[in-house]
Amino acid sequence: MYDFLNSMPKVELHVHLEGTLEPELMFELARRNGIELPFRSVDALKAAYQFEDLQAFLDLYYQGMAVLRSEQDFYDLTWSWLQRCKAQNVVHVEPFFDPQGHTARGIDIATVMAGILRALSDAESQLGISHKLILCFLRHLDEDSAMDILAQAEPWLDKLAAVGLDSSERGNPPGKFARVFARARDKGLLAVAHAGEEGPPDYISGALDLLRVDRIDHGVRAIECSELMQRLIDEQMPLTVCPLSNIRLRVFEQMADHNIVTMLEQGVRVTVNSDDPAYFGGYMTENFIALYEPLGVTAYQSLQLVVNSIEASFADDVRKAELRRQLQQFAQSHQQVL
Ligand code: HPA
Ligand code: ZN
Repeated sequence: MYDFLNSMPKVELHVHLEGTLEPELMFELARRNGIELPFRSVDALKAAYQFEDLQAFLDLYYQGMAVLRSEQDFYDLTWSWLQRCKAQNVVHVEPFFDPQGHTARGIDIATVMAGILRALSDAESQLGISHKLILCFLRHLDEDSAMDILAQAEPWLDKLAAVGLDSSERGNPPGKFARVFARARDKGLLAVAHAGEEGPPDYISGALDLLRVDRIDHGVRAIECSELMQRLIDEQMPLTVCPLSNIRLRVFEQMADHNIVTMLEQGVRVTVNSDDPAYFGGYMTENFIALYEPLGVTAYQSLQLVVNSIEASFADDVRKAELRRQLQQFAQSHQQVL
């Protein structure tokens, strides 16, 4: 099953580039930039990856991204992740990045954009991985700060597919960002938002009604509200679910309690994603494996989850058709497993 899941063509719709920073690269960049990390070794850092909740993780995540300073740093971060994508047959990616986490430290947004875009472009030509890039607003900051970063991103609007909303969910409802999302949509960008990871189901409805999002990131707490569940099914609204993340951040106690299969069986357009793979113990293949073992997700259901990702992606129609063809071809050559 590991070989099947690793060689299955996959699509990643929920990954934070800053969350792909592996401890080894974090130390290398710290050395390169003369930054002292509050950990003596890679092992000491890894030992700190025990999170009580989302906020405990975010504290370490912001500390970690402080090693990113030059264009080359952002290139190396993005490129090393894309090579992992290649090794796991991830063929289309829609990563997030958090520019406010960098401009707040005095890094020019041009530096961030140049490094990330160069790596994504190299991946397109050298690895055959297509992409759509998503700029995320940090929801623990105010809407004016989000407006300001959207204005700073203006020269790269044609390189961005969508805006998103991440960071501390509780106490930061979607309505706080209604104006900046409206402005982004006026500029022709699509929209996504983290909702219903730790926050209540009304944050999901709020993201749909007030931010007019095209996808919900996480959304697993929708299951607490039957009307909302029916709405997600009726509208075929995609949820970008992140199984390993949900266990590491204690959204569910154990994988056997995860609701992704229930949602899939009820007809919700759920997808599998990795969130912050360097911190949560796995990339795309490991997330599929994590569902196979305790939840008994079958090979056929795994394919169905990828179909959902293709349909939910922001790839253009030509690329979507290509992705469907690739998956179909893979399924046909693995009939014995299905
Ligand atoms: N949730 C919210 N914000 C985030 C996450 C997450 O899992 N990862 C990085 N920023
Ligand atoms: Zn996330």
